Amino acid sequence: MQKAAVTDHPVHELIRNRWSPRAFSDKPVEPAVLGSLFEAARWAASSFNDQPWAYLVATKEDPESFRKMLGVLVEFNQDWAKNAPVLAISVARRNFAHNGTPNRNALYDTGAATALLSVEATARGLAVHQMAGFDAEKARQTFAIPEEWEPIAAIALGYRGTPDSLSPKLKERELAPRTRKPIREFVMTGSWGHTASFALK
Ligand SMILES: Cc1cc2nc3c(=O)[nH]c(=O)nc-3n(C[C@H](O)[C@H](O)[C@H](O)COP(=O)(O)O)c2cc1C
Repeated sequence: MQKAAVTDHPVHELIRNRWSPRAFSDKPVEPAVLGSLFEAARWAASSFNDQPWAYLVATKEDPESFRKMLGVLVEFNQDWAKNAPVLAISVARRNFAHNGTPNRNALYDTGAATALLSVEATARGLAVHQMAGFDAEKARQTFAIPEEWEPIAAIALGYRGTPDSLSPKLKERELAPRTRKPIREFVMTGSWGHTASFALK
């Protein structure tokens, strides 16, 4: 199912076509494709080129690992993410590798890496659905994540499935139109609250 964004300004089709489905096909994701997705994440920009991200990945081919990762999601997310062929958790290192001082952009950079992964996935006909709804402490325990690393977001990814595979409530959400604030609400110039003229359209 396609759910292209209806944009106020033209953007690349990869941006329009990226969205977060809850229906996934059971088609496995080839290891080479997974390699490309994380290669895309690798090339994200980051403060001091610190690359403060890491990912734990569980595919259905490793049922034990998949079961453990599914188990750290909140129930609402487990309900649909169990059908995705691949789950992951993004993790960020909060201090710089080169001097150990706090990196206030660590989460920002990790989000940027996952955004690039999502665009690469879209280009390859896959979909990514990120989740805040997971137990970070349980993830730390389950996967022995070291103290200096922080679990940030869970991720379901795979090929899109049919909305008919979802419960009626989730199907309704799957089919709902995508919405966004207009750019005039968040693009300013001069001082806070002054909308940039190009954003007024
Ligand atoms: C960091 C983050 C956390 C999210 N957490 C959840 C979640 O726990 N459960 C869920 O169903 N969707 C979650 N989402 C998906 C958002 O609801 C979705 O991205 C948003 O509604 C915009 O829709 P779109 O991605 O299809 O454009 C999350 C997205 C992000 C980026």
